[in-house]
Amino acid sequence: MNRHEKVEQHVGWFFIVTIMAISIGGLVEITPLFFQKETTQPVDGLRPYTALQMEGRDIYIREGCNNCHSQMIRPLRAETERYGHYSVAGESVWEHPFLWGSKRTGPDLARVGGRYSNDWHYAHLMDPRSVVPESNMPSYKWLAETPVSNKLSAEKMKLFNALTKNRSHKDENGNPIPLYSDDDIANAGAEFATTKSITGKDSLTEMDALIAYLQSLGHALK
Ligand code: HEC
Repeated sequence: MNRHEKVEQHVGWFFIVTIMAISIGGLVEITPLFFQKETTQPVDGLRPYTALQMEGRDIYIREGCNNCHSQMIRPLRAETERYGHYSVAGESVWEHPFLWGSKRTGPDLARVGGRYSNDWHYAHLMDPRSVVPESNMPSYKWLAETPVSNKLSAEKMKLFNALTKNRSHKDENGNPIPLYSDDDIANAGAEFATTKSITGKDSLTEMDALIAYLQSLGHALK
């Protein structure tokens, strides 16, 4: 009997040898990623979300936009021609949670920032069929009626400072620069008072926050 037949005909041996093969493959592929700088350090152009963008991101998660939209451009020609440069790890080292997604009912949004005007996004989110007749994306009208709160923005900034401690930009002496300075945190609400609502209302709505978030996506690599 050949040695490989012995393995193939004994489920115990087969199990052990399979686990060994997968473990070695896994170690060789995964371990180096922990030590490679480009998978753990931000790209130079990465900027933290403003308070308004951060609230918009939370609305994006709450509404489940990531069930239909990925934020991960793969290094394949068909994707880079449609969406732009493929996504790199250094663009999402500050993301908690990641919104890469894997299902694309709609297009990838990793670089949607700046592709359309704020007015386009407003029209699209109110009634997708008004700008893309064949669209099956749901309407998100109510966001334009719901005020957006900055009550928790300062707390969220502090949380993100803590979460990204080892992955922030460094100053010239190699010391970490927190994502948000004490001033940023103290003024977390200021942006809400000075930004004009796209809905024409006196104060900002969830629609404004979501659009601010969408427009912020994908600029870090340029
Ligand atoms: C049921 C699936 C579905 C959900 C949920 C969904 N979308 Fe879409 N989305 C689509 C489809 C399909 C398209 C392509 C047609 C269109 O442009 O409307 C699209 C297009 C878009 C586009 C235009 C992208 C481009 O490059 O042309 C944006 C921006 C967008 N969606 C944002 C959102 C946001 C924000 C949410 C959550 C509030 C959301 N979508 C939820 C299916 C969905």
